[in-house]
Amino acid sequence: MNPIVPRDLDVDLAAVPRHWMANNATATAISNGVNLLFPHGERFFVRSVNYFRDQVKDPALRAAMKGFFGQEGRHAHAHDELNAVLRAQGFEVDQFLDRYKRLSSWLEAHTPPKLNLAVTAAAEHFTAILAEGAFSHDILDRAAPEMRQLLAWHAAEEIEHKSVAFDALRTIDPSYALRIAGLVGATALLGGFWLWAAISLIRQEHQGAARTWRDLSGIPAEERVVSRVFLRGIRQYLARDFHPSHNANDRIASDWMAARGMSLPGATSEAA
Ligand SMILES: [Fe+2]
Ligand SMILES: [Fe+2]
Repeated sequence: MNPIVPRDLDVDLAAVPRHWMANNATATAISNGVNLLFPHGERFFVRSVNYFRDQVKDPALRAAMKGFFGQEGRHAHAHDELNAVLRAQGFEVDQFLDRYKRLSSWLEAHTPPKLNLAVTAAAEHFTAILAEGAFSHDILDRAAPEMRQLLAWHAAEEIEHKSVAFDALRTIDPSYALRIAGLVGATALLGGFWLWAAISLIRQEHQGAARTWRDLSGIPAEERVVSRVFLRGIRQYLARDFHPSHNANDRIASDWMAARGMSLPGATSEAA
């Protein structure tokens, strides 16, 4: 297993333009929609894995979990900053964020810890696929430079820690039924909250349904989130012998960045 190292990103998000994705209001709203979910979602991922920390004895997995906590904590913090930028741009995000946090916190509190862990393992599979696609389809090339830096850092680390929650789940309970229950939960929660967030942002553009539809139909088929992330993600995850390492994408981030003269920030000495 590769070492999983947290890194601090230093980027001025205040400079992010309102339509930072391909200069397209609809594509930006869809991207901002999932960005809105990250801070609260990633803190949930950390809580659901951390709950079982004392039951994991394997030193390599324990070290990976520590790196995972450090990475996700930093992602949540960076995306909190991005949410503040959206507020400064005039978007009303707090009504959605408040409802999203209250509903998901209620669900978390009423769900058995093992199922929360299974939901996290499946959600991490989706984020790793989302991250791979950001590089393999050159989606980030169409983003404003500050967002390209933020998302390349986040996506690289999502690929780096893609197996951690899955391995923790296998250690705690290897049941296929539990894993698939987590997949159902993660698909409903990520899909539902993402759609809700994106619609709340698109409505604030006041550009009309026809324009939004035109924007959507202009997105190339291989970049459509439903097929690229959800359908592929579900198909893979249903295989009984699936493991996140089967997606051979460990070099995709470093190759992508090297081709553009970019690199990840140095590792921090503090892991959590
Ligand atoms: Fe993350
Ligand atoms: Fe993650």
